[in-house]
Amino acid sequence: MNIDLINLGRLHDSIKDELFQAFSETLKNADFVGSNVILEFENELAKIHSRKFAITCGSGTDALTLSLIASGVTKGDEVILPANTFVATAEAIIHAGGKPVFVDVNDENLLISEEHVKAAITEKTRAIIPVHLFGNMVSFNLIKEWKALGLTIIEDAAQAHLGKWHDKSIGENSLSACLSFYPAKNLGALGDGGAVLTDNLDFARKIQLLRDHGRNSWHGHELVGFCSRLDSLQARFLSIKLRYLEQWTEKRREIASMYHSRLNDIEDIKSIHWESDAVYHLFVVRVDPEIRNQLRELLGLRGIQTGIHYPLTIPEQEAFSPWKTICPIAKKASREILSLPLDPLMTHEEVDYICNVLIESLNDLKV
Ligand SMILES: Cc1ncc(COP(=O)(O)O)c(C=O)c1O
Repeated sequence: MNIDLINLGRLHDSIKDELFQAFSETLKNADFVGSNVILEFENELAKIHSRKFAITCGSGTDALTLSLIASGVTKGDEVILPANTFVATAEAIIHAGGKPVFVDVNDENLLISEEHVKAAITEKTRAIIPVHLFGNMVSFNLIKEWKALGLTIIEDAAQAHLGKWHDKSIGENSLSACLSFYPAKNLGALGDGGAVLTDNLDFARKIQLLRDHGRNSWHGHELVGFCSRLDSLQARFLSIKLRYLEQWTEKRREIASMYHSRLNDIEDIKSIHWESDAVYHLFVVRVDPEIRNQLRELLGLRGIQTGIHYPLTIPEQEAFSPWKTICPIAKKASREILSLPLDPLMTHEEVDYICNVLIESLNDLKV
């Protein structure tokens, strides 16, 4: 059997006719940029997340950058983020003029740690970016507490479309929740894209201006902005995929629950704690760092593709050396984590095969 980490070909094949139709409509209408299709998609996206506004833009990175700029983050402001996210979270802070302050995570769930955030807050702290990593949810109670301190909270929900915490959707207690539509995401475009979810009208308007050259009319420019628009072709593709998102998210949970029941009692696998509302962008387990890479090779030899999200913490990366920080829990975890294949159309046979090969390979490596 050959099993990709995520099989996008199979996913798109299942809705191929609708996607071709969307392409034909775009060719026929020639409405490539700024059409009503965008507004319709934004309305549906806001509704499904119980938010008042969704503003699309060019990428998840831009959603974060524009949110930080629109929130007023400026030179010298400190912005706290976990050390073990994708580099984009930190890039957004730097592009907005802020200073990234990397903090460690909880060992149980690998999400930003309350204790380490508390220790990192100074009089220069302006904002916190909790990241719902792997589609696992940071506590909304914590977000509320941080907000009550007068800090701006921007959720990085690039891996958490439809993410909820105790029945409340992302963006409930923060200024904004930022989504990525990178193709492999739970809601992925056939290219790049992103969106900002918010309930704040003034903030929403600012993001709308910033993403389109600061424009308030065709030739009127109220702000110095960016060119970061989602194009109509992607909005059409995303509108189609949005209709399947709840169903696909349930399938992700079903596959994750199969993994849990097969792997939770395996001695050599350390599972992470998942919230019940997790949307499982990735299914990640932890193994002994001494054997992790050999294990990946053995799985690869038997047709199973795996991933590592992410092999280094951000402050260990060369580009971020000016902000070097040691976050021991995140660092140790980065050497142990292994992402197993997960996509909504995976079959039970595939999950079984992966679990069998994983258990056999762990045993082989013991001898
Ligand atoms: C946690 C996280 N934040 C931000 C981003 C950035 O999103 P994009 O690639 O759409 O810019 C990603 C996506 O890769 C991500 O996984």
